[in-house]
Amino acid sequence: MEKEKIYILGIESSCDDTSAAVLCNDKILSNVVADQKIHAEYGGVVPELASRAHQQNIVPVVDQALKKANINKEQLSAIAFTRGPGLMGSLLVGTSFAKSLAYGLDVPLIDVNHMQAHILAHFIKEENYSKPPFPFIAMTISGGHTQIVKVTDHFNMEVLGETIDDAVGEAYDKSGKVLGLGYPAGPEIDRRAQLGNPKAYKFTKPKVDGLNFSFSGLKTAILYFVQRETKANPNFVKENLNDICASIQYTIIGILMDKLKLAVKQTRINHIAIGGGVSANSGIRKALKDAEHKFGWTTYIPKFEYTTDNAAMIAIVGYLKYLKNDFSDFDVMATARLKI
Ligand code: KG4
Ligand code: ZN
Repeated sequence: MEKEKIYILGIESSCDDTSAAVLCNDKILSNVVADQKIHAEYGGVVPELASRAHQQNIVPVVDQALKKANINKEQLSAIAFTRGPGLMGSLLVGTSFAKSLAYGLDVPLIDVNHMQAHILAHFIKEENYSKPPFPFIAMTISGGHTQIVKVTDHFNMEVLGETIDDAVGEAYDKSGKVLGLGYPAGPEIDRRAQLGNPKAYKFTKPKVDGLNFSFSGLKTAILYFVQRETKANPNFVKENLNDICASIQYTIIGILMDKLKLAVKQTRINHIAIGGGVSANSGIRKALKDAEHKFGWTTYIPKFEYTTDNAAMIAIVGYLKYLKNDFSDFDVMATARLKI
């Protein structure tokens, strides 16, 4: 007998990407993302502009996701949406839209935790990609988050450590600003890092106990370093940009890998999955691959489109919750500081 087909519409609007995706069971039929270019002019996400852009984008994005999936909205089994964490104004747009649509179609509503979704993105069915086995360690690294999580089951997650100040992506973006690079600076630093000498300049790693992270000291150290060197040579940054980028990247990867090694030592779990925008970074990808040979880890790196904020990851959580009949009440509220 053919397996029942469950169609989930996922909606993501927690930060500066408006996204909608349609899933048939654990397989993606469409994943549409409208990123908001407007924030580049300001060197970071402006919450008020983000929520306005979500309002403009949400109807066409959902429409396109349904069209690409080649289904009509009456075929949907449930609507899943990001409840939090994120920017309140942005979350409200997705939450209200999802509620109205689920109510109108008379289908279940499913609220999703964005941080769980980054991790469960590994459970989207893909050719030639094996899902991590339980238990595994997940490291979520992006412009908004830096977390190490022990995942015992789809919905049994324990945060082992997280940043006490900036996220790792912010460290990239703020360093880039000091160097005069555009926003977001992560991809540009990564590109230049591959052309420079990682040991040209030394930046001290922060001393933070256990599995927590701190990145604000590094950002300040880079600012002072650039100010000092520029005083001596006004062309310092221009002449040494690749080496500076390589040294920053080397320091950041060192911080992330030290914490992962500690997590493996503490938990004795050596299946490591990463997610979030910074997992696109060539340095972290290489360091993880090297760790497979060096330390015997097995590593899991999702497809690029599932690393940055996207609705496919929201839809897969929707599917997993649908299987457990774990539905939301219609009075569920968007929650800016939602915990895992
Ligand atoms: O997941 P994401 O799209 O949005 C957030 O939830 O923040 O992540 C965006 C972040 C930005 O800080 C960006 O600079 C960083 O990911 N990023 C990178 C790379 N690609 C994106 N950082 C380092 N290397 C990259 N290749
Ligand atoms: Zn995210």
